[in-house]
Amino acid sequence: MSANTIEINRQRHRFDGRESVWLFGYGSLIFKADFPYLERRPASIEGWARRFWQGSHDHRGTVESPGRVVTLIEQPGVTCRGMAYRISPEVFDHLDVREKNGYLRFTTPLTFDNGEQAEGLVYIATPENTAFLGPAHERDIARQIAGAHGPSGPNDEYLLRLADSLRELADEDAHVFGIEHYLRNPDY
Ligand code: BEZ
Repeated sequence: MSANTIEINRQRHRFDGRESVWLFGYGSLIFKADFPYLERRPASIEGWARRFWQGSHDHRGTVESPGRVVTLIEQPGVTCRGMAYRISPEVFDHLDVREKNGYLRFTTPLTFDNGEQAEGLVYIATPENTAFLGPAHERDIARQIAGAHGPSGPNDEYLLRLADSLRELADEDAHVFGIEHYLRNPDY
């Protein structure tokens, strides 16, 4: 699948006059909400693991030196914690462009901290997209991130802001914190 997903996403969901839709954020959407929203609540989704397995040549890297950003990998029994935003459907026009590098919108059940549930949408970059990089040792991921810089800023800033946001959400994401450890201790 081509990495440019704008047109595919535009045709993927019909909002049929709905006033608002829940969007689940597990990466940069947690700490960079550059869009209007009606409500913001910590939430979780089940069966998905956050991984720095998606390449970024348009935000946190370049074609010559791609960075790494997060996507979700299906993993039964795993809970992914993040932030849910209730947004007007028109906001997807902006988000589909922002997340155009391989991310498709999927429907997901989500659970808020008080146990309430709702259906929402989540952007996932699946292994079929051409920018998908896949697994690597966390030390190597940290090295790649340390050397990457793109139009949205340094890749290490993305990782460090995400790690801080997850700590604020009281999340224990061993993958993200493992990469953070190697980034902060490059000689380890
Ligand atoms: C997110 O924070 O949910 C997100 C991360 C990367 C691309 C799209 C969405």
